[in-house]
Amino acid sequence: MTDSRLVIDLCGGAGATAQAVLDVAPARTRVVSLDSAAAMQRVGRRTLTDSRLSWITAPAEQLADHVHESADAVVCNSAIWKTDVPAVFTAVRRVLRPSGRFVFNIGGGFAGITHPDEAITHTKPSLNSLIQQIAARDFGYVPPPVTGSPPKLPLHKVTEHLATAGMTVVETEVTAQHSTIAEKKAWLSIPVFSRPDGTLTFKQRMQILEAAYALIDPGAPTVTSWLVVVAQRPGRRP
Ligand SMILES: C[S@@+](CC[C@H](N)C(=O)[O-])C[C@H]1O[C@@H](n2cnc3c(N)ncnc32)[C@H](O)[C@@H]1O
Repeated sequence: MTDSRLVIDLCGGAGATAQAVLDVAPARTRVVSLDSAAAMQRVGRRTLTDSRLSWITAPAEQLADHVHESADAVVCNSAIWKTDVPAVFTAVRRVLRPSGRFVFNIGGGFAGITHPDEAITHTKPSLNSLIQQIAARDFGYVPPPVTGSPPKLPLHKVTEHLATAGMTVVETEVTAQHSTIAEKKAWLSIPVFSRPDGTLTFKQRMQILEAAYALIDPGAPTVTSWLVVVAQRPGRRP
């Protein structure tokens, strides 16, 4: 990050990651935050006033159609598995300068990894299982069958997609994000993350969430596992 001039915050939402980058990057660094949701960016435009931050409303898959200068780094926090991954990797490779870095994370469930802390702090029953039980009891919710389907984006697939796009993995790390049930509740109150999936209305989901939350210690610690991947576009040959 010490040499960065242009950083792209891919699927940047309301700009929290972009601001975190600006907080540690050299003063001359600019960050372009790209997201397909104009509503998320409206929040960011209102709350973040750093003149080094600019916004593009577009799908991540079309990054290279919107950024016409070389980026030193592309970051993508908490979103890559929602995108068309091969198309996004190709677009990232096109905008990165030689030796430029692409850093992203993948939720543990999607990557098929678990940080050891998750087992230590697991509250029983979990907020998610209480939500499912209450949804079944009060609204006749039928959970989807447990199919045992493989994780959507394990490291070997990521590595293959990166290689196809012309990038390599230089580093990986499994990290643990420590939070509380109260923070998890705030997350599950965002419409796109509310549960359970299916036909229940947002209002019904919030009723279920309140009922589940009342049965659990709000201060109880929870852990979310993440796979962090640092990839690189190869440098120019001397
Ligand atoms: C969990 S939020 C993360 C936001 C941000 N990265 C952060 O750290 O605060 C996921 C974001 O991904 C965006 N997103 C999902 N798929 C996308 C796509 N194909 N192209 C652009 N943005 C996308 C959503 O609009 C949302 O803002």
